[in-house]
Amino acid sequence: MKAQVMGIGHALPRRILDNKELEQRVDTSEKWILDRTGIRERRIIDPEQTTSDIACQAAKMALEHAGIGIEDLDLIIVATATPDMLFPATACMVQEKLGAWNAAAFDISAGCTGFVYALTVAEKFLLSPQYQYVLVIGAEALSRLVDYNDPTTCVLFGDGAGAAVLGRGQSERAGILATYLGADGRGARHLCLPAGAAARPASRDTVEQGLHFLKMNGNEIFRFATKITAEVSEKTLAMTGFKAGDIDLFIPHQSNLRIIKAAMRWMEIPEEKTLVTLDRYGNISAACLPVGLSLAVQEGRLKAGDLVLMVAFGAGLTYGGVLLRWGCDN
Ligand code: UT7
Repeated sequence: MKAQVMGIGHALPRRILDNKELEQRVDTSEKWILDRTGIRERRIIDPEQTTSDIACQAAKMALEHAGIGIEDLDLIIVATATPDMLFPATACMVQEKLGAWNAAAFDISAGCTGFVYALTVAEKFLLSPQYQYVLVIGAEALSRLVDYNDPTTCVLFGDGAGAAVLGRGQSERAGILATYLGADGRGARHLCLPAGAAARPASRDTVEQGLHFLKMNGNEIFRFATKITAEVSEKTLAMTGFKAGDIDLFIPHQSNLRIIKAAMRWMEIPEEKTLVTLDRYGNISAACLPVGLSLAVQEGRLKAGDLVLMVAFGAGLTYGGVLLRWGCDN
């Protein structure tokens, strides 16, 4: 018995924010953004929408792909760094909007590693016969929490959502083969939202200082990311005996093309086996991996039996990897 991805979906807002527009809004240049990050454009959520709305759009696509009814869901897990509110959980908003009345619902806060954490948790729930189908979503509205006066962060992030329906299957040829998670809280301060919660409640002072916006020490994260992406890939593969050369599709976290290329070089994974979406969508944090999976299916880059390695790192600092064989019994 293995946990399998039965269906996958994504939602990407229509509004495009390209480098040219950012160049007009903030002290940056089209060339700097492309050269230093690989990002050309990102998507921005509609003013009347929020994280749970695009999460639901992605979820509906995944449920249709899986051929599973909303009433069949036993659990909804939403990985997000941009919840609709601090509480209740965005997963509860999603449950309400979908009408998934038989599902329990909770969020996971693991930054950009959120989808890897959520898949890992879902896999454990599926060990129990009480849970047949788990909806796992990575959804972000980062445009709501970045400071469009800060060129060191606002050029990087975008909005979007991806969702996967997980179930149980018997086939040896499909399902999650290995998961690996880790965290290093000593790096928590390098990527955070300083104010607006219990440690520093919102006040006139916090708003004047812009502490309700995402803050990042880019250089520290860059150093951490280049090392950890290769390390996580190796550890995840080592749990199964597969080698980097066996991978059909590598889906790394989409934060900077230089980080992705360093990992590809280290592992000797060629370009044609690596999925890059950040040129089109920027860094959408916990949504990067499920959006990537869904686009890979849509673009015909994934077929049943393919070996997929997903690796992420992010706020926490957290990190993790999932190795799966694409396909399901259905
Ligand atoms: O998923 C969440 C995890 N986050 C990440 O993975 C982000 C990891 N970090 C990075 O991707 C990179 O560190 C950044 C893209 C954030 C920054 O790139 P960098 O090549 O490390 O630039 P830097 O911070 O070392 O800055 C180099 C220069 C500085 O100017 P001076 O001091 O050399 O004059 C910056 O002020 O580039 C300047 N700079 C910019 N210039 C134009 C920083 N941001 C910008 C900008 N436009 N947007």
